[in-house]
Amino acid sequence: MRGGPTWGGGLLLAALAGGFPGRGAQDPGSAPASVPVERCLECHAGAARDVASGAHAALENRCTGCHGGNPSSFDERRAHTGKFRAVPLSACAACHEAEAEAFAGGPHGVAFETKAIRGCVECHSFHAVPRPDHALLRSSCRICHETNAPEIVESGRQTADDLDRLESALAAAARALDEAERRARIVRREREGLEADRLGLLALLPKQHAMDLEPFRSDVAALRARAESTGARAAALLEETGRRRRWAWLVGALVAANALAILWRRRTLLAARPHP
Ligand code: HEC
Ligand code: HEC
Ligand code: HEC
Ligand code: HEC
Ligand code: HEC
Repeated sequence: MRGGPTWGGGLLLAALAGGFPGRGAQDPGSAPASVPVERCLECHAGAARDVASGAHAALENRCTGCHGGNPSSFDERRAHTGKFRAVPLSACAACHEAEAEAFAGGPHGVAFETKAIRGCVECHSFHAVPRPDHALLRSSCRICHETNAPEIVESGRQTADDLDRLESALAAAARALDEAERRARIVRREREGLEADRLGLLALLPKQHAMDLEPFRSDVAALRARAESTGARAAALLEETGRRRRWAWLVGALVAANALAILWRRRTLLAARPHP
């Protein structure tokens, strides 16, 4: 279906990742004792505000993470030296390996190599990067495929619907497990299964960057089927609890009725006994 050559993927990935302070720079274990304040901020207040408003607000190296350059210089020329990049379209891969790898192996990787698209920023923007959600699958594909390939726009929309349904199934199963636990049922195994499905979704998401949406959607459907069966098991446990309670009530009521009957009989017997 995709047909794009993938031989360029590895090379492209290397090019995408080339020479950047990568995730290591964010790693608490390997971070230097004190992180220098980036002086870029002094001259680029607008960019700084935008970055702070988006998904990268928590980056320690807010500018140099993508642009490189010398963060400790107050001088414009010296600040823009070293591995400085004015348009770091390749920088993203250094910190987002899974998405970049999938992207590089798909048709958009080829389009990036031929400069038909600018890369990640086409869909994610660059400074005020919004937190993506499934809605992005509804909006981003049409920017370029609305007229040339409406079927791609449609499959993006369906994929977003599938992901929404998967999330409601996960949420419904979690609610059912909570309820079962509240009624003192043990649901540890089911909870572990549900947690694994949540992690499965997180591991799956980057793969949609290969833009090969049909196999992606069947993986999503498989996860959803698992979440739904967890929900069904929780519901069955609840029903069993309900049945046990009804039995307990019934037995209780029978015992009480019996006791009342005995009391009543004794009273009527006493009443019937002739007075001396
Ligand atoms: C002393 C002020 C100053 C400092 C410090 C500074 N810059 Fe700049 N920078 C400028 C000016 C002036 C320009 C050119 C006008 C503009 O585009 O805003 C510029 C341009 C840029 C551009 C656009 C380049 C282009 O060719 O379009 C980028 C990207 C950039 N700076 C990033 C950085 C980064 C990253 C740092 C920190 C490592 C930094 N700057 C530090 C003043 C500074
Ligand atoms: C997530 C990666 C990323 C981060 C972090 C980032 N930039 Fe950029 N920046 C880019 C990209 C990509 C472009 C080029 C966009 C284009 O050409 O359309 C760019 C363009 C620029 C430009 C030129 C265009 C403009 O908007 O003025 C400046 C100046 C700049 N960045 C400064 C900064 C500064 C200062 C910081 C830190 C506060 C920063 N950037 C943080 C990715 C980033
Ligand atoms: C220096 C490392 C670094 C670079 C370079 C970088 N990012 Fe990020 N990015 C991060 C970190 C860290 C987060 C925050 C993760 C979190 O808070 O969940 C993040 C978050 C994001 C998110 C939101 C993810 C989410 O689940 O909400 C998007 C989208 C994103 N980055 C896109 C980009 C793009 C596009 C580029 C290139 C223009 C880029 N990043 C460059 C480190 C980086
Ligand atoms: C054609 C549009 C498009 C391009 C190009 C693109 N992405 Fe995405 N990206 C998306 C969509 C859509 C999502 C939202 C997935 C979801 O939550 O349903 C997303 C989500 C993300 C996330 C959040 C975590 C995740 O995997 O869902 C990160 C990080 C990210 N992209 C990084 C990148 C990087 C890095 C590149 C470039 C190598 C890139 N993206 C290129 C469309 C794109
Ligand atoms: C910035 C423009 C742009 C955006 C946004 C974009 N694409 Fe593409 N896409 C391209 C280009 C360019 C190609 C390669 C040329 C072509 O086949 O049209 C391509 C190719 C593809 C192909 C391969 C088509 C084929 O016939 O082999 C698929 C599948 C695809 N894109 C899916 C998507 C999906 C899904 C989205 C939304 C998440 C999306 N694209 C968003 C520009 C874009």
